[in-house]
Amino acid sequence: MDAVVEAVTILENNPAYNAGRGSVLNVKGEVEMDALVMDGRTLGSGAVSAVRRVANPIQLARLVMEKTSHLCLTAEGASKFARAMGVPEVPEESLITDYATMRWKKNLNPDANPVKCQMGEMGTVGAVAVDKEGNVACATSTGGMINKMEGRVGDTPCIGCGGYADNQIGAVSPTGHGETIMKVTLPRLILFHMEQGKGPKEASDMGLAYMKERVSGLGGVITVDPTGQWAARFNSLQMSWAAAQQDQLHYGLYHGEDFTEPV
Ligand code: GLY
Repeated sequence: MDAVVEAVTILENNPAYNAGRGSVLNVKGEVEMDALVMDGRTLGSGAVSAVRRVANPIQLARLVMEKTSHLCLTAEGASKFARAMGVPEVPEESLITDYATMRWKKNLNPDANPVKCQMGEMGTVGAVAVDKEGNVACATSTGGMINKMEGRVGDTPCIGCGGYADNQIGAVSPTGHGETIMKVTLPRLILFHMEQGKGPKEASDMGLAYMKERVSGLGGVITVDPTGQWAARFNSLQMSWAAAQQDQLHYGLYHGEDFTEPV
């Protein structure tokens, strides 16, 4: 859990990604973010949706898991909880980049196709991890879809859609168009295939293929199992990913790429 939350915190702080600082803007030009964590030991989970003015929604999601009896807090309720937990409120402008503003303006045009515009670029961020005892965890964080309606909740804060972790099977974190991921509950679908005996790679490909065939959905996933097998698979044009295992770092961006170097 520490590893996935730390990894996603770093990605939220990096303006190159659609999470935390660098999030896409809703139709009113505002930042509303979603995040989820899940602990495979207990099936404990925590999430926030449509939360504003926090730098690291993933840390708030972890607090929901650890400090409340609920799984998800939304909007103003999530902000109030953040204040009660002593999480600092940050100015909205500190989360908004010039690039996000430029894309928001471009997508106000009635002829724009926000899903096409977003696909493959600046995705949701996520992490999955397995420790030496076979405990798995996942974390996912996003600003959502470009020019989404105010109050829109995507896949990310919904358990089984924005991620799932179960020590008996594995952990998955997805990226892509939230509405299509939700229609097929992609992470839980992939874990279902793993329960039926498939490895992370084959199960991920089967889940993504079903989403494409059934609801024309494109996206990507990172998947681990409790033995340390892992996969980074996508049917979008590109997905930036990296995996650290023992003393090797693997990474890639386009299909067929798997660069390796010592950690
Ligand atoms: N997958 C992120 C979103 O659609 O909100």
